[in-house]
Amino acid sequence: MPTKLLYLHDSYQKTTTAKVTKVEQSSQQTIVYVDQTLFYPQGGGQPSDIGDIIGANGTLKVSFVSYNGGNLQHKGKLVGHLQIGEVVTLNLDWEHRYQHMQWHTAGHILDQAVKNVFPGIHGTNGEHGISKKMHVEFDQPIPLGNLPAIQAQIESIVAANLPISLEMVTKDEIIKRQIYAPFDLPANKPLRIVTIGKYPSMPDGGTQLQATSESQPITITTTKAKNGHSSLYYEVGVIAPETLPKVESVTTNTDSESLMVLRQHIASIKEQLMAEKVTAFDLKTKYLGKKGLFNDFAKQIKAVPGPERKTAGQLLNELKNFFETTIASRSAAPAAQAWLDVTLPGITPPVGHVHPVSQAMEEITTIFERIGFTRVRYPEVEWDWYAFGALNMPSSHPARDEWETFFVDAAASPQKGKMVLTPHTSNGQVREMERLDHKPPMRMININRTYRRQQDATHTQMFHQFEGLVVDKGINIPHLKGTLDYFAQEFFGPGTKSRIRPFHFQFTEPSFEVDFSCHLCQGTGKIQVDGQETKCKFCKSGWHEVGGAGMIHPNVLKAGGIDPEEYTGFAFGWGVERTYSLKEGLQIDDIRLLYSGDLRFLRQF
Ligand code: PHE
Repeated sequence: MPTKLLYLHDSYQKTTTAKVTKVEQSSQQTIVYVDQTLFYPQGGGQPSDIGDIIGANGTLKVSFVSYNGGNLQHKGKLVGHLQIGEVVTLNLDWEHRYQHMQWHTAGHILDQAVKNVFPGIHGTNGEHGISKKMHVEFDQPIPLGNLPAIQAQIESIVAANLPISLEMVTKDEIIKRQIYAPFDLPANKPLRIVTIGKYPSMPDGGTQLQATSESQPITITTTKAKNGHSSLYYEVGVIAPETLPKVESVTTNTDSESLMVLRQHIASIKEQLMAEKVTAFDLKTKYLGKKGLFNDFAKQIKAVPGPERKTAGQLLNELKNFFETTIASRSAAPAAQAWLDVTLPGITPPVGHVHPVSQAMEEITTIFERIGFTRVRYPEVEWDWYAFGALNMPSSHPARDEWETFFVDAAASPQKGKMVLTPHTSNGQVREMERLDHKPPMRMININRTYRRQQDATHTQMFHQFEGLVVDKGINIPHLKGTLDYFAQEFFGPGTKSRIRPFHFQFTEPSFEVDFSCHLCQGTGKIQVDGQETKCKFCKSGWHEVGGAGMIHPNVLKAGGIDPEEYTGFAFGWGVERTYSLKEGLQIDDIRLLYSGDLRFLRQF
């Protein structure tokens, strides 16, 4: 049978009788079990009670009590002996108990005071009198600046002398009544809740005072924050139990009617102030202003009979202090307050966006993926072979000079030659043929950084290109032209046309230059301004030259291990930056701006 826990129902019971159920003797101490007990077993941050268990032939000096799964163990020094079945008297060391009760209840008052200032915060733990200094832990940080407001709350809870009630409940009731529990509660035993005044109840198994005024003065000493949690440390003054007002006598006081009314008014106005959701400025006007509530109160003092004027005056002073500290703490840390001033201008958090070149790369990729191209990214630090050799440009071929190439200071490969920073994405052509094991069909879109020895207003040393490659049986120029038209319309908008003009590249035959019609003037080269026809300044001719294209040269197919008798293909390639600025109708005077990291420029896109 588990021990009946009398202390759960009445924290003020100092003595009782009980039946001894078991006695265990060790070399150090005796452990006594009884059918019911007043002794609080150490736990929940509250230390064990001490006292005496007195039998007919012996006394146990109880120095420690542990819960032991519900069969409480009373441990201590036994003088004489105790008999199983014997009826004994349990006497608490009341002073010890009462001290801890004050400390414990003070923790609950502090917890409530914090909640009054920061609704939504929860006390999660607390401790007093065991080892560490008295404190309550909270699930959120509490800024230092708010301590005066919390202190003021403590004082008003204590001054209001709110009753503290205990109630036994089941876990189901706790859930039904939406009582907040900071930890998982056991479902298999009766639980107890404690309620201060009309504040929300909370689960608690410790010993509690009957009213808040029995614990005072409570002073917050410091706060510590750790990992988003915080602890408030407190101290409680020592008051002898005898000197305290009896709880029953709280209502029977000698105040005159008008002083009582004033007290009640003060209590309610304090609550009102704490619940206010307006700015500190408005609070000041409402409470401390010329026509404010404080001055209203000051007038009431006249109604208080002469002998009580002094008390009334003190009450008013205290109220003024309360107003001042509470309002000051609000203005000190407005952000931490749970109220919202909807009239304050909003704060726009900086929201970044993808760099315009990355946006363009994404868009180009998606357009080609829709018609079955596979996005790849081949090395930007590349062997000569893929950048030139495999593209039908033998080592001494003058066509190489068109690509002003950076050479990497690294050992050359006997098969693949020197290492370069690839000057174009065409290096991906033969790499793709190798990746797919020389087996068409292939549809590749290779987008990457490319490098050339150039640097002026329209060229940067690093830029981006994209390369299309299609190899299959029977691929011909109309396939290329259709693909270019498709891209033109998808990227620049309906109505945009593509145009190919004869050109020369070593790796395509025939080769073309690719133009897109200007989408500002619909390819006419003319625009209407105020009814007047003028030249389109963006394109000048109706067309924009963008890049190169052609039917893959048989030697390139061979270099990629593909039989040019069986397969044909086309390729195209050009710069991302230029394509992007055409689309936006941008005339970027200095293309280097794109990579300058100048947010005034980049934010526009
Ligand atoms: N690689 C060429 C350049 O950078 C463009 C091109 C790609 C031409 C594919 C033909 C085929 O100028």
